[in-house]
Amino acid sequence: MKGRFITFEGGEGCGKSTQVRRLKEALEAEGHEVLLTREPGGTRLSELIRGLLKDEREDPPCDRAELLLFLAARAQLVRNVIRPALDAGTWVVSDRFSDSTFAYQGYGRGLPLDVLRLANDFACEGLRPDLTVLLDVDTETSRARLRKREAATNTTADRIEQAGDAFHARLRQGFLEMAAQEPNRIVTIEASGTPDEVWEKVWKSLTPLR
Ligand SMILES: Nc1ncnc2c1ncn2[C@@H]1O[C@H](COP(=O)(O)OP(=O)(O)OP(=O)(O)O)[C@@H](O)[C@H]1O
Ligand SMILES: [Mg+2]
Repeated sequence: MKGRFITFEGGEGCGKSTQVRRLKEALEAEGHEVLLTREPGGTRLSELIRGLLKDEREDPPCDRAELLLFLAARAQLVRNVIRPALDAGTWVVSDRFSDSTFAYQGYGRGLPLDVLRLANDFACEGLRPDLTVLLDVDTETSRARLRKREAATNTTADRIEQAGDAFHARLRQGFLEMAAQEPNRIVTIEASGTPDEVWEKVWKSLTPLR
């Protein structure tokens, strides 16, 4: 039996990392092998690329270079980690995947969506998630959570998090538009509640797969 592939999407601070950890535990408790991964990242090379994408400020990637770096990281992750895991029957839960490319580089940066679709399909060899959970919060909530996390972890916003409000509003709109276009794959969850409240909705959205 092949494993299932579940991705989490949404803007910064919507709660993806919080919820994927819970999902891993819950699926394992049901007896599934679960691999948790994140994008960009999840392999040694992809984590190195993640560092470049988040922190390079002296020679920041132009929009096209940024896209190709994300896709390079994804190609390596799909080929070396996600595909083999799914083939072995492991469930894979990814903190971000292709929809983030369409939202950030397409709706956010303005690169043409048809080019992104082709390039992305090439990078991930046509792999699509079985289910995508879109955690939707308004910009205010997102910003408040990020500020709290920065204070708690003594970190500062990375290069992409620092993009302005208009950028973040565009990508939220993009995520919602994609969810409306693919209602069978993408489940939109209103995620401004407590972690427990959001988790309840996340777990319910998994019912068709389990
Ligand atoms: N439902 C929630 N209510 C309040 N705070 C939350 C909730 N979910 C997560 N948080 C907190 O908000 C911050 C951001 O959450 P988290 O890191 O899970 O978001 P994320 O979507 O992974 O963000 P990023 O896109 O930056 O990786 C964290 O400090 C987390 O503890
Ligand atoms: Mg996160």
